[in-house]
Amino acid sequence: MAKFKITVVGAGMVGGTLAQRLAERNFADIVLIDIVGDLACGKALDIAQTAPIYGYDINIIGGDNWELTKDSDIVVITSGVPRKPGMTREELLEINFKIVKDVSEKTKRYCPNSVVIVVSNPLDAMTYTAYKVLGFPKNRVMGMAGVLDTARFRTFLAQELQVSPKDIFAFVLGSHGDTMVPILSYTTVNGVPVEKILPKDKLERLVERTRKGGAEIVELLKTGSAYYAPSAAVLDMIDAIVFDRKRILPVCVICEGEYGINGVFVGVPVLMGKNGAEKIYEFQLKEEELSALRKSSEIVKKLQDEVDVLLKKYA
Ligand code: 2OP
Repeated sequence: MAKFKITVVGAGMVGGTLAQRLAERNFADIVLIDIVGDLACGKALDIAQTAPIYGYDINIIGGDNWELTKDSDIVVITSGVPRKPGMTREELLEINFKIVKDVSEKTKRYCPNSVVIVVSNPLDAMTYTAYKVLGFPKNRVMGMAGVLDTARFRTFLAQELQVSPKDIFAFVLGSHGDTMVPILSYTTVNGVPVEKILPKDKLERLVERTRKGGAEIVELLKTGSAYYAPSAAVLDMIDAIVFDRKRILPVCVICEGEYGINGVFVGVPVLMGKNGAEKIYEFQLKEEELSALRKSSEIVKKLQDEVDVLLKKYA
């Protein structure tokens, strides 16, 4: 198998940790890019110097020169300003729009055949921004949120039930915001519906904690937002693409009629393989889950409309 080339844009905590996780898996050469070239260079050098100890032999380089990224197979966009305590992801919209637009233009120029995974917030609107600027087919532009939100929900359930998180199966769909939709009807403990194990009020508390999962960490960290679980979630998606695993993961992609949603980027179950987001699975949802998913997509649609205005303003 030819070695993959993966570019991580943004050498902050998510980007740096992702580069480290990727290096330790040893399946792809890595480029870490940041407008602060020395930061990217320094982190890449530090990870490279770990190789003799860890035993990996991929190449990793960092800097601010996009020539380095040329013809990457996968580009992960983590750049942007993180939330400050009390700030919503949506408030970041205009600041991060400009950053994601710029990075997407460069990605289009240097990595025209790449699969692009967006991590910048507000996630769904930034994925839409990248999609509009890149002009790539829809299977090659997606956002990471559902894997993270689902991991948080699984963690809280495992802690509540005192069982291994591995045995909790769940899907958190919708927007990566307060309207995200944990699908309780498909949440099981090794096949046993969680609704039969936990009382409704307890489940509701865990759902609420999941919705606020990112903000809880922002409050605790005081500066910056989560990065261990977000970087692990991106790695899970990359692994599915690189090894053509045909995983079904909750991924933010554009819906074109699926679940009755049209032209909106939102988290849905996606078949992930070598072509990126290969197919959206339309599972039958309970009426209230479906309407929550659609409501969540309406919130994203409003942000997408704002992005359309920004696209004209900064054309
Ligand atoms: C989170 O939920 C950063 O949005 C990311 O932690």
